[in-house]
Amino acid sequence: MNSALLECGGLTMRFDGLVALDGLDVQVGKGETIGLVGPNGSGKTTFFNVVTGLYTPSAGSVRLGDMDLFAKSPQVIGRSGVARTFQRSRLMLDQSVFDNIVAGALSRLDLGLVTSLFCRARWRAELDAMIDNARSLARRFNPAIADKLFQPAGAFTMIDRRRIEICRALIGTPRLLLLDEPSAGMTHDETRQLMDDLLAFRSEMPDLAVILVEHEMDVIRRVSDRCVVLNFGRKIFEGSFDDLIADAEVQTAYLGGDA
Ligand SMILES: Nc1ncnc2c1ncn2[C@@H]1O[C@H](COP(=O)(O)OP(=O)(O)OP(=O)(O)O)[C@@H](O)[C@H]1O
Ligand SMILES: [Mg+2]
Repeated sequence: MNSALLECGGLTMRFDGLVALDGLDVQVGKGETIGLVGPNGSGKTTFFNVVTGLYTPSAGSVRLGDMDLFAKSPQVIGRSGVARTFQRSRLMLDQSVFDNIVAGALSRLDLGLVTSLFCRARWRAELDAMIDNARSLARRFNPAIADKLFQPAGAFTMIDRRRIEICRALIGTPRLLLLDEPSAGMTHDETRQLMDDLLAFRSEMPDLAVILVEHEMDVIRRVSDRCVVLNFGRKIFEGSFDDLIADAEVQTAYLGGDA
């Protein structure tokens, strides 16, 4: 692994009697893509919610580079360079593609009230830069999205909506991107296209670390440098995809004992 970017130690999340994350140790290197898998309810989304500050962990540590992110607010964590997409789409379908994408950059905009009110030229320049930024990001995924930047997001296909969500996560130039089942609800072909996109922007952003939650093993095989498997909030495996497939405990937990 390259120098560790994200380091979680003993991360624990309890909901009343339920232990959703149970002393989880996870490290992600700069530029590394981790495939995070596990059965339904094993804690994958909870892990993302804890790392991004939506849930306050019960115990453990979370560090990004030299920053302590344990129990920090989503705003602080977002500004420190962690971005995500959600398992269930959170696009504002009646708002434009542009509005949806820049929602991911607002926490980084630091113009201040005085500038916004009185320095109109500077405000306009910031806005133009943001439009350019959103457009070139969208173009990387699909030129048709870039050409319709001010159309409502709801007018696009499922795969394009997912691309817009990924653009929203990327607009703030994160260091760590968390993707929660990006191919959910997509056809086989769309999933393959989306993974082509993922591989393409990964090669353009070699320092970006990615954690990908995905049920489709073929996707995990294709894009992961390393795999982590959860079961009942515990890490039961960490290693290469080939070793994952051969691991008896993983087969029992995740593949129902059928290799
Ligand atoms: N806000 C919450 N309150 C209470 N329990 C929760 C909450 N969020 C998650 N859980 C529980 O924590 C456990 C882990 O859920 P989580 O959503 O993290 O699983 P997952 O691995 O993402 O599953 P899936 O593959 O179905 O998306 C489950 O038992 C779930 O019911
Ligand atoms: Mg989930």
